[in-house]
This record gives sequence, C-alpha cells and structure tokens, in this order.
Amino acid sequence: MSWDALKSQASETTEAGLSSARVDTTTASVARVYDRFLSGKDNYEVDRAVYEQVLQIAPQAPQIARDNRAWLIRVVRFLTNNAGINQFLDCGAGLPTAENTHEAAQRLNREARVIYMDNDPVVAAHGRALLEENDRTHLVMGDLTKPDEILSNPTVRKHLDFDQPLALMHCATMHHVPDSDGPRDIMKTYVDALPSGSYLALTHFHDPGEADPEGHELARFIEGVFANSSMGSGFFRSREEIESLFCGLPLVEPGLTNLNDWWPDGPRLGDVPPVDRVLLGALARKP
Ligand SMILES: C[S@@+](CC[C@H](N)C(=O)[O-])C[C@H]1O[C@@H](n2cnc3c(N)ncnc32)[C@H](O)[C@@H]1O
Repeated sequence: MSWDALKSQASETTEAGLSSARVDTTTASVARVYDRFLSGKDNYEVDRAVYEQVLQIAPQAPQIARDNRAWLIRVVRFLTNNAGINQFLDCGAGLPTAENTHEAAQRLNREARVIYMDNDPVVAAHGRALLEENDRTHLVMGDLTKPDEILSNPTVRKHLDFDQPLALMHCATMHHVPDSDGPRDIMKTYVDALPSGSYLALTHFHDPGEADPEGHELARFIEGVFANSSMGSGFFRSREEIESLFCGLPLVEPGLTNLNDWWPDGPRLGDVPPVDRVLLGALARKP
C-alpha cells in the first residue's frame, strides 16, 4: 500500500485503539518536525517552517536529533545484548526512521517484543505498516502524560509481562511536557509500575545555564522558536530537573551525560560542541 493511502487510512483505523483523528496540516506537529530534523519525508510546510527557523540561527541543530536517535539505538542494543531485556515500551515513539527500536532489538533477539506508543495520527498510519511487519511489534495510540491509561492499555498488558523486567523508553518526550503537567509525577507513576530489574532510558533537552553562556543561549533560542511556533513545546531544563525525572533510580555508568559521551565508539577527540550540550540522556535500572 502506498504511503498516501496509509495516511488517509489513518483516520479510519479503529483496530488496537488507533486514533481516528485526522492529520492537521495547518499546525506543526512534534513528530513531523522531528522527522524533518532527521531528513525524513513525512512532514508538511508548517513543520518545515519551524525547522528552517531553528536552522537560521543554529545550523548544527539537526545534529541534536541525529545524536538522539543514535543514542536510542545504542541503548536498545545494550539492553538486548548486555542486560537481557526482551520487552520494550517505547513512549513517544515518533515516526519510523532509518533504524527503529524493534529492528535494533529483534536483530539481536528475534523474540524481543516492542510496544510503540504515540499520539500523532501520522505515526498511527505507520503503525499499520509496523503491525504488519511482525506479531511482536505493536503500536498503541495514547497520551504519555496519562501513564495510568498507557500502563493499563489492553495491548500493552497483552504483549508485555509486568512480572518480568522491561525497558521503558522516554527519548525526547518529556521535554514536550510543561511543568504545569507535573513531569516528575508522571514519570513516578511509570517508574512505580516497573518490575524490579527494569530499565528507564530517557533523553531530554538541556539548558546548561549561565556557566555555559553559548549552550545557554542556544537552548533559550531553540526553546523560544518552538514555544512561538504552532508546535508550542520543547522545554530546555536544568541537569537537576532532568535528573529528577529518573525518580531516584540508580543510573547506569556513566550517568546523565551528553549523548556522545554515553558508551561512545571511541575517545572524544575535541571539545563538546554547544549542540551536544543541550541534550542529556541516561539509562537507569530499578533495583
Ligand atoms: C521528538 S519525538 C521523539 C521520537 C523518539 N522517541 C526518538 O527519541 O527518536 C517526540 C515524540 O513524542 C510524541 N509525543 C509528544 N507528546 C506526546 C503525548 N502527550 N502523548 C504521546 N506522544 C507524545 C510526539 O508525537 C513525537 O512522536
């Protein structure tokens, strides 16, 4: 089936709780703007306008999205290969891209089960294709700020065993949740539901503060563009605020770092450029 046909069918899909919402091409969407940053094709003029605005002042900004994606895949490989994890709940999964969680995990363990969740209707359209790919990969539509609903979703419960360790992925999601929605309380509900031996992988926009004027300025600029666009969100938080989202879980070495410093392929040869300093990530393990 063609991509256009899939997109138009997204609005008709009711299976597995997929959204019946129509794709709104007049308002920028987080998933589609991110897709543009990753050089994808599933975006509209309104999304590309946000991208272009960021690019004018911060031409290196697409590197943030690429680093985030590369980190996510490194973490999935680590979890599957080294930590023996074979079930994943990937919240705010985004549009399929060059390499996705289920591909990275199932290449190493073909029995690995992946539940993607998102609230974007274009992601829902792709979900059909993902569902057709194999019976260990599923998509649920839902609001990640309502963890009780996500955790009790019948598809999540059917395919993930909450008596066994699992990996909860929250990559580049919580910086779209405003303080007024209580991001830490949201994460606490997820973390409390995780069985012992589970992992939480989380990345988040970072404002390094006055101690790093260049990084601070970049963070404030990009946050301003996002806030003033129809997309409306993308909050750069302090290291302490990001750490609090792990709800006290012990962090796997090397802790909360610039993404390129987390299990890098080799030693860093130069200084960390400003774009690397405005996104942090860590993997935590529930004892
Ligand atoms: C920046 S993308 C990150 C995609 C992927 N996790 C990654 O790291 O590559 C953020 C994703 O979160 C989704 N998202 C944002 N707010 C959400 C919400 N309240 N409920 C569900 N999904 C949400 C967006 O639709 C988008 O696909």
